[in-house]
Amino acid sequence: MLSPFVEEFFRNPATVGSLIPSSPALTDKVMEPIDFATATCIVEYGPGTGVFTDVLMRRRRPETVLVLVETNRRFAQLLHERYAAHTNVHVIHGSADKIEQYLRELGITRADYVVCGLPFSSLPRRLGWRILEHTQQILQPDGKLILFQYSLQNKRLFEKFFRPLHEEHVLLNLPPAYVLTYVPSSGPQVTEPTAGA
Ligand SMILES: C[S@@+](CC[C@H](N)C(=O)[O-])C[C@H]1O[C@@H](n2cnc3c(N)ncnc32)[C@H](O)[C@@H]1O
Repeated sequence: MLSPFVEEFFRNPATVGSLIPSSPALTDKVMEPIDFATATCIVEYGPGTGVFTDVLMRRRRPETVLVLVETNRRFAQLLHERYAAHTNVHVIHGSADKIEQYLRELGITRADYVVCGLPFSSLPRRLGWRILEHTQQILQPDGKLILFQYSLQNKRLFEKFFRPLHEEHVLLNLPPAYVLTYVPSSGPQVTEPTAGA
């Protein structure tokens, strides 16, 4: 029998983006920039089957709010069953580009960290653009966006909205991945690309 992750990859390869969940080595690197002692709100985009979420749950203070945004119905259901009974955890079946609306509905103004496992290379470019634009809006000025990607092809897109802080290549993952840490840039506003750009 195939795992839910493999099954969902074959159903939605462009949004799921990989055949297997991230490794413990990659998870450790993604967690490194997070100061769990001070974080009041952590958002996760694309938790999938929850490999990062399990660690966020273990390491967060009980009062730190965790907002999980997952577009895949089956993963969202699984996350709901596993985490929704915990206090200060919100599982949202939806898309990361609606994060401002979701936080507004929860009465949260800003997040300290956004942990992002989205496959930007296979998402529509305009969707990726909107996700980054809204992420810039909801992060604290000193907040951090922590991304993992299998290639560096979207760095220029990320840098339209964010200033790079740190980059690391993690070989102990299938496939090897880059962990990129960014802070919101206060540079000039950018213009959304036209369709097909
Ligand atoms: C590469 S998987 C990462 C899963 C998990 N974080 C891990 O590292 O194993 C990408 C995840 O992003 C989700 N996803 C794709 N587009 C999304 C969107 N617009 N909003 C929220 N989640 C999305 C997919 O359903 C999938 O669960």
